Amino acid sequence: MIPFSPPHIDQKVIDAVIDTLKSGWITTGPKTKLFEKNLSAYTGCKSTLCLNSATAGLEIMLKWFGVGPGDEVIVPSYTYSATANVIIHCGAIPVFVDTEDDFNISISAIEKAITKKTKVIMPVDFAGYPCDYDEINDLVNRQDIKTLFKPMTNEQKLLGRIMILSDAAHSVGGIYKGKKTGCLTDVSVFSFHAVKNLTTAEGGAIALNFPAPFDNDEIYKHLCIKTLHGQNKDALAKMQKGNWKYDIVEAGYKCNMTDIMAAIGLVELERYESDTLPKRKHIFELYTKKLSQYAWAQIPEYATDIKTSSYHLYPLRIKDINEETRDRIIQNIFDADVSVNVHFIPVPMMSFYKSLGYDIKNYPKTYDNYSREISLPVFFDLTDEQVNQVLDAVINAVEKNIQ
Ligand SMILES: Cc1ncc(COP(=O)(O)O)c(C=O)c1O
Repeated sequence: MIPFSPPHIDQKVIDAVIDTLKSGWITTGPKTKLFEKNLSAYTGCKSTLCLNSATAGLEIMLKWFGVGPGDEVIVPSYTYSATANVIIHCGAIPVFVDTEDDFNISISAIEKAITKKTKVIMPVDFAGYPCDYDEINDLVNRQDIKTLFKPMTNEQKLLGRIMILSDAAHSVGGIYKGKKTGCLTDVSVFSFHAVKNLTTAEGGAIALNFPAPFDNDEIYKHLCIKTLHGQNKDALAKMQKGNWKYDIVEAGYKCNMTDIMAAIGLVELERYESDTLPKRKHIFELYTKKLSQYAWAQIPEYATDIKTSSYHLYPLRIKDINEETRDRIIQNIFDADVSVNVHFIPVPMMSFYKSLGYDIKNYPKTYDNYSREISLPVFFDLTDEQVNQVLDAVINAVEKNIQ
């Protein structure tokens, strides 16, 4: 069976983890700090905080901005539920909007959804393909939109407009107009979950990039406290001679990254540009070369003059089919011993969100994208021979079901 996206665990990763276990320091410490520094250097953002998941990073940033009951947060209807769940955790209202042909959030739909209650927009770089950040940033800086904004907290007053919190869970290494994700807007959150391009088993990072007068290093320091119980000293600082006393300055959270996770991340980041991205790009190109020959195949957009994907997912769409046919095709692909996936079942289709009154009928493009989508396997150890096996399975399954 060809798996969908197993991690790239080689001896280097195993050695890094063992070294950390033997070092005597396994929680947040020097390796996490180094990983944060290297991530900032890689993405070009102003400061990076590593955590135990992207979900934690998204929620922490909403809380940091003071998002609460009555506030609205605009999100694409086509995303993983984590993007919306964190809004619910804050007691705020997720305002779903439709997506475009490239699967990303529709800018015109965002504009229509903005009200005086909007505090944050969370664009999602679906499959690793960056959103239209110039348009999104311009929109929130427009005078009429700024006038609508009603700041309640110090952070909201200082920003003076809607915050853009990019869900960059898929897109570390993605490029928009020559800049990497992480420095394209106010703040971006990466995921290092086991299936992601760059993994730490579980993990995530907040890439801070707020404009002046914000001091991103100060925000980083505050977030370190906020994500570790609200404690004013971390474990490493408390270990220093005689430095045992600490205070709790707020009712904080507990979602720090451990040095064991960071050890994996350091190896992953070091080889990301040289090995990981070229290999993923190669697999994308093999898929595209073959599938372009078939009239039924809608090839995903992943590289243009201004945007390059991180090659996280290859979201193939089959033209002119419905959800039932797509599901039958998937079953036939699995029958040929190839694992595929669907990204995503849109959030408004989930029971919980349906129970809140959301209805997929209001997001026709999202439903159309979803109902025809099949994500193909992409992972470092996938060989060219296996790529051909995937292609054979997909082509046979589609041709069997559309004729
Ligand atoms: C778009 C998107 N956002 C957020 C997340 C949550 O990431 P994590 O599992 O690191 O919390 C995921 C996870 O798959 C995702 O796909």
